[in-house]
Amino acid sequence: MKIIMLGAPGAGKGTQAKQIADKYQIPHISTGDIFRANIKEGTELGTKAKEYMDQGLLVPDELVVELVADRIVKEDCKNGFVLDGFPRTIPQAEALDEALAKMGGKMDYAIDVDVSDENIVNRMGGRRACLGCGATYHIVNIPTKVEGICDKCGSEVVLRDDDKPETVQKRLTVYHEQTQPLIDYYSQQGILKSVDGTRPMEDVFADIVGILGA
Ligand code: AP5
Ligand code: MG
Repeated sequence: MKIIMLGAPGAGKGTQAKQIADKYQIPHISTGDIFRANIKEGTELGTKAKEYMDQGLLVPDELVVELVADRIVKEDCKNGFVLDGFPRTIPQAEALDEALAKMGGKMDYAIDVDVSDENIVNRMGGRRACLGCGATYHIVNIPTKVEGICDKCGSEVVLRDDDKPETVQKRLTVYHEQTQPLIDYYSQQGILKSVDGTRPMEDVFADIVGILGA
């Protein structure tokens, strides 16, 4: 099962993708998490990506396309994968289709997690992310057991650099301009499914399971 999670920044793509990966035993591939891991390790890719991410801009297509193309041919992807945060532009979507066609495959589902902009701005200020394992929390909705410490791996959880209010606004603008056109792209391919991302996370997940099958 090959799945794409679509949706605005903070819509809950990561939250849902992790649960999908667990339930269907497929890898969760988040380009944002890959960039953040590279930033933490101080790699060249991380240094380049940070420049764009901190401004709320997209990292250039050429830095991300190859990364994903190399990842989806790995052995653990043979039964499928869930892509979170990729593709984000039409050229990325076309590159993904080409890479899959070479492997004789295609995407099965593009799930749009729909949340309004107002709702997003409220969510992001409360999000805390673990730099160790990528787990996400929310200071009110899903707090860590011990303040500031990840329940899963014990690393520090922090406010992401790009979750400052002015950067969130910029990310939303970029989303509407560059990523939202993918909704039409996948609708035309006949694989688009939409879920209401403003409902409690368990309900959003139940809707997704309804789409993917139990
Ligand atoms: P990325 O890491 O992908 O960020 P994003 O798309 O902006 O999305 P987020 O991770 O912020 O949100 P999410 O939808 O995963 O929501 P979450 O589940 O955490 O990318 C970061 C940056 O990297 C980009 O800006 C760009 O610069 C670069 N980049 C990455 N991929 C790229 C690409 N392909 N091309 C170019 N550049 C790229 O949930 C958010 C919060 O809400 C959490 O606190 C969560 O607990 C809470 N929450 C979730 N669901 C619910 C619910 N149902 N009800 C209440 N609260 C909820
Ligand atoms: Mg995410």
